[in-house]
Amino acid sequence: MTSRKILVTSALPYANGPLHLGHMLEQIQTDIWARFQRSRGHHCRYICADDAHGTAIMLSAEAQGRTPEAHIADIQVHHQSDSEGFLVFFDNYHSTHADENLKWSEKIFTTLEQNGHIAIRSVIQAFDEEKGLFLADRFIKGNCPRCKAPDQYGDNCEACGATYSPMELIDAVSALSGTQPVEKASDHLFFTLSAFHDLLDGWVSADNLQPAVANKLREWIDAGLQDWDISRDAPYFGFEIPGHPGKYFYVWLDAPIGYIASHQNFCERSGDDFDSYWQSGSDAELYHFIGKDIINFHGLFWPAMLWSAGLRLPTAIYAHGFLTVDGTKMSKSRGTFIMASTYLEHLNPEYLRYYFAAKLGSGVDDIDLNLEDFVQRVNSDLVGKVVNIASRCAGFLRKKFDNQLSVDCSEPELIGELMAAGDGIAALYEARDFQRAMRDIIALADRANQYIDDKKPWVMAKEEGQEQAVQDACSVGINCFRVLMTYLKPVLPAMAEKSEQFLNVSLDWALLDAPLEAHTISDFSPLIQRVDPASIDAMVEASKA
Ligand code: 2FM
Ligand code: ZN
Repeated sequence: MTSRKILVTSALPYANGPLHLGHMLEQIQTDIWARFQRSRGHHCRYICADDAHGTAIMLSAEAQGRTPEAHIADIQVHHQSDSEGFLVFFDNYHSTHADENLKWSEKIFTTLEQNGHIAIRSVIQAFDEEKGLFLADRFIKGNCPRCKAPDQYGDNCEACGATYSPMELIDAVSALSGTQPVEKASDHLFFTLSAFHDLLDGWVSADNLQPAVANKLREWIDAGLQDWDISRDAPYFGFEIPGHPGKYFYVWLDAPIGYIASHQNFCERSGDDFDSYWQSGSDAELYHFIGKDIINFHGLFWPAMLWSAGLRLPTAIYAHGFLTVDGTKMSKSRGTFIMASTYLEHLNPEYLRYYFAAKLGSGVDDIDLNLEDFVQRVNSDLVGKVVNIASRCAGFLRKKFDNQLSVDCSEPELIGELMAAGDGIAALYEARDFQRAMRDIIALADRANQYIDDKKPWVMAKEEGQEQAVQDACSVGINCFRVLMTYLKPVLPAMAEKSEQFLNVSLDWALLDAPLEAHTISDFSPLIQRVDPASIDAMVEASKA
């Protein structure tokens, strides 16, 4: 098998608040896939960054009485420690507010402009005269023009679902100053997406998108591509547009460019060959893992920008659905809007990594974290089935055989069967069908437990002349455990590391060609505790605060 050169990204979290479990769903999905690729011997880099620009970040910093730079630096520290807490391994974590990103944003914009893909048009918008700011829809509130419900945002009514423009709101006020906004015209720069119809038509027809994503993009293309407003007026926390004083890149223009910038920052430190990844015709694979809410940016604007700039297009975009908790949208009042750090204060990250893996398919369906099912699934599968195999066998090997596995594997067929399942499991991981990969792995764990149930080493151990049979049965069990933990390693990296110490062997997919024989293992120590339902209650309670 030739080694592939792979670059993966997950969406850059906004630097205006802590990470929650929705962010972790995506980062864990990406991390599992990246770890899987590395475990198969591929050269795979996972990069990310904080998305640091925009009005919301500027205003939060102001509200906290600090500079935007100090604000985003502080948030980034928390984001990185939360991701690390969930064992998400980034080759690089950067910020969009960085030199590399300024250079790339300017360079890409200048090329788009030279190619005639930037147009200037006057736009009339609501303006807060007191704050001296143009107001995005969410910063305007008023009564719904249709049902008259009070306190509705500038784009749609939460009471009746009407959509409208902010100036249609009755008694509209700026959410920032409480004053009545005025209408004001200003020149904006537009990226002429409409010029990319044929490119995007081809991109969406190619085989690199999930069917639901391709359908959605196709709808937009067929409805007629709209040019995209990529500028914002000062004051704005972002990069000023070269040649257009007082105009700033809209946060969504420089956010995806942050993928390139973070990768360049990494390559400069690590010596990886940056250019070979991004030039058109690159032999590297590029995948963006994202939520389904941002497929327009990644599926339309981004490929068009890359193409105009003469850079390669993504190999594929992998969208996932939203995270719900106990069947509904995460809610602060129910305590189900759970921050990453709150989870980590109460529960082991590998529980959630496994649970998400057990629920993630390759499509864009929403994923439900059902807290009761979470306890049940983790305890039954990980503790009751996988770890159980090792814990049932290890004691006999230690007490009676000095931790030595048998010289001859008595059950090569069973172990061979588990090893032979590897290619199928790998294909499921590759296709991001982690759900079926977990199901198949747990079915193999059932086979191994059934084998131990049949052999009953605890009975044989009490019988005369059965020593060899006890050692053989337990050695088979340990070998099964080794194969299963190798398959689970992308999902459970910490448990895999402890298992490597226990087994005295590296859990490497490429080494699964023969059973461990006449091999000495270490004393067994518990690899993971059962989930305590009281910890779930405590986490939910803490999330209500
Ligand atoms: O939706 C978001 O949270 C954005 N901050 C994602 C940006 S992804 C990429 F384009 F940078
Ligand atoms: Zn209404």
